[in-house]
Amino acid sequence: MGTRPATSLLIRIDPRARETLQQQIYAGIRRAVLEGLVTPRTRLPSSRALAEDLRVSRTTSLLAVEQLRAEGYLTARRGSGTFVADLLPDDHPQAGSARVAPKPIHPPLSRRGAALVAARQGARRLPGPPRPFRIGTPGVDLFPVRLWSRLASRRLRAVTSAQLDYGDPAGLRVLREAIAKHVETARGTRCAADQVLMVAGAQQGLDLICRLLLDPGDRVWMEEPGYPGARSALLGAGARILPVRVDVEAGVRSAGNVRLVYVTPSHQYPLGVPMSLPRRLTLLKWAAAARAWVVEDDYDSEFRYGARPIPCLHGLDIDGRVIYVGSFSKTLFPGLRLGFLIVPPDLQDRVVAARSAADQHPPSLDQAVLADFIVEGHFARHLRRMRAAYRERLESLAAAAERFCRGRLRLRPVQAGLHAVADLDGVDAVRVSREAATRGVEATPLSAYFVGRSRGANSLVLGFGAVRPEAASRGMERLAAAIEAARRL
Ligand SMILES: Cc1ncc(COP(=O)(O)O)c(C=O)c1O
Repeated sequence: MGTRPATSLLIRIDPRARETLQQQIYAGIRRAVLEGLVTPRTRLPSSRALAEDLRVSRTTSLLAVEQLRAEGYLTARRGSGTFVADLLPDDHPQAGSARVAPKPIHPPLSRRGAALVAARQGARRLPGPPRPFRIGTPGVDLFPVRLWSRLASRRLRAVTSAQLDYGDPAGLRVLREAIAKHVETARGTRCAADQVLMVAGAQQGLDLICRLLLDPGDRVWMEEPGYPGARSALLGAGARILPVRVDVEAGVRSAGNVRLVYVTPSHQYPLGVPMSLPRRLTLLKWAAAARAWVVEDDYDSEFRYGARPIPCLHGLDIDGRVIYVGSFSKTLFPGLRLGFLIVPPDLQDRVVAARSAADQHPPSLDQAVLADFIVEGHFARHLRRMRAAYRERLESLAAAAERFCRGRLRLRPVQAGLHAVADLDGVDAVRVSREAATRGVEATPLSAYFVGRSRGANSLVLGFGAVRPEAASRGMERLAAAIEAARRL
């Protein structure tokens, strides 16, 4: 209604549009040229014919054509009219490239790519801000945003041209020094700052290591259930995953010829149990004999509730087999996308070379702000504060489970981290998870973390890091309703 097609160029004029008639004619012809509806060297109708066709004044059509001529879309040939230019202005796609193409037939994905895409699963997330009991998100509501932005603006105001240039692919030196110091006091391991390599979150570190150390088809021991992010990194490298239940002795017996072991010893993901000291030593001894790499993912070990810390595997390793993967996603906030690797000295340069092939290095300014945050003591203070907050959140989760789900949902003891495993009786966890989602509650079934069959795993994984005490209560009430609904199905 109210639009009139110009027969030759399919321009539509809308008298009620905000753009002037001249602008609409200009845009219509330009689109026809860019979409290849009129090809280079095609003669355009005269401005008089165009004006008549579109029922506008001749001046209007003339001015639109003039503008297109001035911008190089059209050329005028004296005596013979106006034509679509041979070469379109170079900041726009060539004619035809923007045309709606028929569905293209692409070659298939690589085998690794297809496996990677097919394996995507893990925590159930509803769109929007954290709902109870989201896994993976820490207490971002308590992050000292003002302090962080003060440090960031200070850095920005004093930015140097060197900081605007490419930086060291290993990461910012001061930050790597600060991390080396931190892991010595907090994680019981020693390393030189040179061994610390900054990455864009633990995920990039895992991806990098897997691509660097594994050939397609290499066998890898991975904990079952285990972290989907690690599984993706392994599949992306073409590894053959050997799922081993969370039991080092069983792994040692069944692993055979594996090139790499991926473990979460401080706080098994997702079961939450720590690996005992004897098991850590057994694993290291086995890895030395098997000449296998050990990847230690220490993603949330800073938060413990009473349990005595055991030195990380890296701190117990005397053989240079352990690659330590650290992350600031739980200790600070996941959007920061900063993590680090601690690699054996002989691997440093090779990891840095592989790092450059990915994205050079994480943003220099973010690294600088993080370095200030650690060096000026804010990190240690923030960890202390968050430990107390998480303890309170865990207590609220346990109290709410007791109040609303007594007997139907049993929380396993939580010694560390930001999530809990809860066992269900007589009702299917996958159904409960679905019912919970319809009530705005994120409750991931434990079975989502298995590669193979999840025999007997009828449990939910519940995050509490991002759940305030009052939200835990409301969320648990709804989860109790979800359990009831699933029971009736
Ligand atoms: C087992 C495990 N490793 C690592 C990470 C952190 O990954 P990133 O640093 O890439 O955010 C997570 C986050 O949820 C995790 O659960």
